[in-house]
Amino acid sequence: MENATLKLIASRRSHRAYEKTPLTAEQIDAILKAAVESPSAVNRQPWHFTVVRNQKLLDEMNQAVWEQMMLRNPEQRSPRFRDGGFHVFYHAPAVVFISGMPDNPYTPVDGGIAVENIALAAESLGLGSVILGMPRDAFKGEKADEFRRALHFPEGWDFVIAIALGVPADTKDAHPVKEDRISFVD
Ligand SMILES: Cc1cc2nc3c(=O)[nH]c(=O)nc-3n(C[C@H](O)[C@H](O)[C@H](O)COP(=O)(O)O)c2cc1C
Repeated sequence: MENATLKLIASRRSHRAYEKTPLTAEQIDAILKAAVESPSAVNRQPWHFTVVRNQKLLDEMNQAVWEQMMLRNPEQRSPRFRDGGFHVFYHAPAVVFISGMPDNPYTPVDGGIAVENIALAAESLGLGSVILGMPRDAFKGEKADEFRRALHFPEGWDFVIAIALGVPADTKDAHPVKEDRISFVD
């Protein structure tokens, strides 16, 4: 079976290189509209979206993630950090941070739904994205509160997930699908 939505879902990839081209205001508006249209448990909308285009701030957060990663034993580090030039945000022109309401069991699920809505909205506009869990480490170090303030996280809310957005400068195959992840009970 095929339709435009199924094709769009199938065409999304995680992009890890971006052109410098900034997103237009119309693109950002459309993406944020898709984000806030996401469903959420009890319609709590336990999310806050922060669009970051300030590359200096992203560089500082990248540095903070690196510092946290280097505190780990080498075997516990993501292999991506073997490349000294690795940048957590892949130099994307925009990154959306989702911070979440504390003490709400569905915050991670609702944030995950919202981030996928953002990824699919971006794809529909001809943009690329990559969902980012690694920035979480930036909220563990000594600059954690500074970053929370800089990103306008509501008081007491914390990082849930982020997503880099931009015109992709790479291509990628679809991920191989693991077997045995679907069952039917009739
Ligand atoms: C919750 C979550 C966190 C992720 N965090 C990162 C990350 O920090 N850095 C990264 O490069 N990719 C990250 N990814 C992207 C995954 O590696 C990617 O979705 C997976 O390899 C499948 O590839 P595809 O998205 O191209 O289908 C994350 C994806 C998800 C869903």
